[in-house]
Amino acid sequence: MTAGFDPAYAGRGAARWLVDSGGRRVRLPLRRWHGPAEPAVRALVDLCTGPAVDVGCGPGRVAAELAARGLISFGIDTSPAAVRLTRRRGAAALRRDVFDPLPGEGRWTNILLVDGNIGIGGDPSALLRRCAQLLRRGGTVLAELDAPGTGVWRGLAHVTHERMTAPPARGAPFRWARVGADAVHGLAAGAGLRVRAVFTLDGRWFAELEKP
Ligand SMILES: C[S@@+](CC[C@H](N)C(=O)[O-])C[C@H]1O[C@@H](n2cnc3c(N)ncnc32)[C@H](O)[C@@H]1O
Repeated sequence: MTAGFDPAYAGRGAARWLVDSGGRRVRLPLRRWHGPAEPAVRALVDLCTGPAVDVGCGPGRVAAELAARGLISFGIDTSPAAVRLTRRRGAAALRRDVFDPLPGEGRWTNILLVDGNIGIGGDPSALLRRCAQLLRRGGTVLAELDAPGTGVWRGLAHVTHERMTAPPARGAPFRWARVGADAVHGLAAGAGLRVRAVFTLDGRWFAELEKP
């Protein structure tokens, strides 16, 4: 997985695309990831009421926003570059796979899965079950989704880097998934989570899933 996204953090200027075997090609929003928290992320962090983990923190704008609010929090990412960039913003970060042991399991109030991170590992059911393990009762997962109509897609993806002076470079494949807002109820129920809300912010879809 590290090989998948690490090259995306190497340079901000060039275009990088997430290409999946389902035929979808999405330009990675590197400018957004390296920038300050945008209004949608600030609104999401408004919903965080206690200790929080930003899963797959990338360069750390969500983790930095959590820290700026004075919340006990850290980002985790398998990419060393992501962890370095997150710490540089003043947020705590660990180089860790979300499926590996983490500090405070069962005691976290909020888990964030932003920017398509519900796709981490390629099995959203397993990822939500893992998030449920990390949460205390009453805690929530805040997950970004695709628009309704997508259902659940699971498969392989890779990052391509388009360069002006050389052929495109293609990263190693990794397992990825997409979840549409229409599919979140079934997935949440399978992970023992209750859907508190499905909502949009600036045209992006999110769900708030509570551990009862
Ligand atoms: C779509 S990017 C997220 C971008 C990030 N939310 C941001 O604001 O920049 C997905 C991130 O998840 C990380 N990742 C992938 N698999 C992971 C895993 N099993 N555990 C933790 N992080 C993972 C990747 O290294 C990558 O940085």
